[in-house]
Amino acid sequence: MSRSLTTALTVEGNRPSRCALPPGLEPARLPAHVAVIMDGNGRWAGQRKLPRVMGHREGVEALKRTLRLCSDWGIGSLTAYAFSTENWNRPGEEVSFLMTLFERVLAKELKALEQEQVRIRFLGDLEQLPEGLQQLIQDATDRTASNTGIRFNVCTNYGGRRELVRAARLLAQEVASGERDPDSIDEQAFASKLLTAGEPDPDLLIRTSGEQRISNFLLWQLAYAELHITDVLWPDFDETALVSALMDFQNRQRRFGGVASVSS
Ligand code: FPP
Repeated sequence: MSRSLTTALTVEGNRPSRCALPPGLEPARLPAHVAVIMDGNGRWAGQRKLPRVMGHREGVEALKRTLRLCSDWGIGSLTAYAFSTENWNRPGEEVSFLMTLFERVLAKELKALEQEQVRIRFLGDLEQLPEGLQQLIQDATDRTASNTGIRFNVCTNYGGRRELVRAARLLAQEVASGERDPDSIDEQAFASKLLTAGEPDPDLLIRTSGEQRISNFLLWQLAYAELHITDVLWPDFDETALVSALMDFQNRQRRFGGVASVSS
């Protein structure tokens, strides 16, 4: 948490230099949108006999690394699962630590996010978050909204089913008020009521720590995403791990329910 987003960049005449795309990765075949389930912070800390919260602190560093690399390599969107609607069931101390961590990181990194042209948004039921955090979120969202770089979505108090129910309710309200004909409800109309409206669906989902679940994350949006599951624990997720996820992605044949194209 003590290092800022730009720390690892080499500063040349006040301009941070970009980290080049490693050889072997094809720029034209990078995913436009990467989603990550950052799992394994607690286990990382446990392996070192540290309190679980130290794993979350180190997880922030891994997230900053990932954001910086995705931004440098021209990936359009990064969506990270920071806090699920189920995470309130964790011990009160851990929940408070996480809320304070989000506040501290946002306050500290906002300048760097602005300089790096990152567009940050928080997706989820934000009104249930502490007041101070809500204000920081609003400020960060407003101040980075007109940036032109990577879109960085932080799913906070987010649940995929809840998001789908919300979309259904919004459509139902439009029908009830006479604004909408039920026959006009198609996939596009539904997607327009999701928290990710206007963004392409993730092409690649990375989940760390070896768990093979979606855990109520982006249930609609991940319909055709390629899944990359790695045993690396989130705090250890680094450039090598990201390159290996991107290589894996570039080796997949995406068919979207069709058949593979054959050259005659
Ligand atoms: C999962 O590990 C991780 C979390 C629930 C929290 C992730 C949050 C961050 C990395 C901070 C992000 C901060 C900002 C401001 C965007 P776990 O605790 O479930 O690990 P375990 O499965 O090993 O117990």
